[in-house]
Amino acid sequence: MASAPARLHRRALLGGLVAAPAVLQFGRAQANGVQAKGAYVFPLGVASGDPAPDGFVIWTRLAVDPVAPDGLGGMGGAVPVQWDIAADESFRNIVASGRIAAEPAAAHSVHVEVEGLIPGRPYWYRFSAMGQQSPVGRARTTPAPDAAVDALRIAVASCSNWESGYFSAYGHMADEAPDLTLFLGDYIYEYSRGPERAAEVVRPYGLEEATTLAGYRNRYALHRTDADLQRLHAAAPCLAVWDDHEIQDDYSGVWSKTPGVTPTDFLRRRAAGYQAFYEAMPIRRTRLDARLQMPIHRRVRYGQLAEFFMLDGRQYRSKQACSDGPNGGKGQIVTDAACPDRLDPSRSFLGFEQERWLYDGLANAGARWNILGQDLVMAGLRFGDGGLNTRYWTDTWDGYPVARDRLTQALATLKPRNPVVLSGDYHSFWTNDVKLDSSDPSSATVATEFVGTSITSGGPSYDGLMSAMPNNPQIKFFDSRKRGYMAIDITPGRMTTRYQAISDVRDPRAALSTLNTWVVEDGRPGAQLV
Ligand SMILES: [Fe+2]
Repeated sequence: MASAPARLHRRALLGGLVAAPAVLQFGRAQANGVQAKGAYVFPLGVASGDPAPDGFVIWTRLAVDPVAPDGLGGMGGAVPVQWDIAADESFRNIVASGRIAAEPAAAHSVHVEVEGLIPGRPYWYRFSAMGQQSPVGRARTTPAPDAAVDALRIAVASCSNWESGYFSAYGHMADEAPDLTLFLGDYIYEYSRGPERAAEVVRPYGLEEATTLAGYRNRYALHRTDADLQRLHAAAPCLAVWDDHEIQDDYSGVWSKTPGVTPTDFLRRRAAGYQAFYEAMPIRRTRLDARLQMPIHRRVRYGQLAEFFMLDGRQYRSKQACSDGPNGGKGQIVTDAACPDRLDPSRSFLGFEQERWLYDGLANAGARWNILGQDLVMAGLRFGDGGLNTRYWTDTWDGYPVARDRLTQALATLKPRNPVVLSGDYHSFWTNDVKLDSSDPSSATVATEFVGTSITSGGPSYDGLMSAMPNNPQIKFFDSRKRGYMAIDITPGRMTTRYQAISDVRDPRAALSTLNTWVVEDGRPGAQLV
């Protein structure tokens, strides 16, 4: 049963918000010669992702009632959907098309893995169903693996909490005209703030905490009604991975943060969240296996210029260190004296299979820039004075220091060219040196790390974190006071990262400014402030 606020919100969404940008976009699509008989079936827009030299995934999801309580978008049985790919924006030259069924078992989501296209060029795509036509999206094939590439622009996002504010940062990302967008986790948040935190809410979810397939589906559906997010997805293909809030705050592998919830019970919830992620995202086919695992780590090559290793830092993790303590399974800040478990070498962050996959990939990496896209800060953060009272947060890579050392050793030994880590999670901008030995800031720098801030989610205490910085020389820059994203221009000689900040998360048309700009030169790990 939906709560009363959910019903109210659905009505407001569909009937009341006539001035909202999403509705304006809906109107525009209808004006494009589309039959307006019945409700519009493409209110969630379109998206593309996981590009390859010969194609990409195109996505849509049919819905006439996006947050219907049963999670099925107000749809009934299977619906035939036509898809078209054109070499031009006006669809005069259609180069591929086909038909596919939108099935209720997949919440009427549609994933088409398009093949047979030409490398390194833009294409336009659209869907039609039930006599209506979707908005048009623009995708782009990657260059052939051996192609010389002069430039690549990516835009990097994480942490978009609907209740925390408007997605103007997504709109500004679309305006960057990126070749590729990266989503590094917390694309949705599973919880809703209760009445006691109502003052923090800029726009309510109007939905109960997501714990079921219907609940997770509706979280994604609500996000996709946002005009700025729709515009970003329609502008460029994306590479998306998850963090914790796609399922539950601070979960770890098969372990819930909620005390008393068994792995067997938590796996049911996790499987629902994973399925909803697949249905909502333009990713290549993956499915839950008998262990209720669903692999999403993958490599995407961009000519000779770059290769992306998209990592999953949640699904295969060992249990949080010392999580049977007073704080349940939730990440906590501990000393080694209180929590020797943190240093147990049998614990893994990526899981040993994904670790091996990554090291094999780094061993044969041939691109100029090797980019690890993942969910949590890698370079580490020591709280305290650096002595025996030094404390570490167990939910991040800091909770798995031996696993991190295996990765930094792999980087030092295998020497992929120009490793750069792009990270989410911390709702703040960071520029870091990833050190060979995370316990020794004077050890060699093996990779550069940029941490994007959040699209909307509130940042940690600036003064609190800054007080820890004197003991963290590997962190060259930190700022938690701004929301926004990273815009990164990659050329053979350098990577230039702009920290893009919006003026006010409460303003749906927030202004954009560049907080600062960093450059990494080819062959020289570590970023320099421009
Ligand atoms: Fe987050």
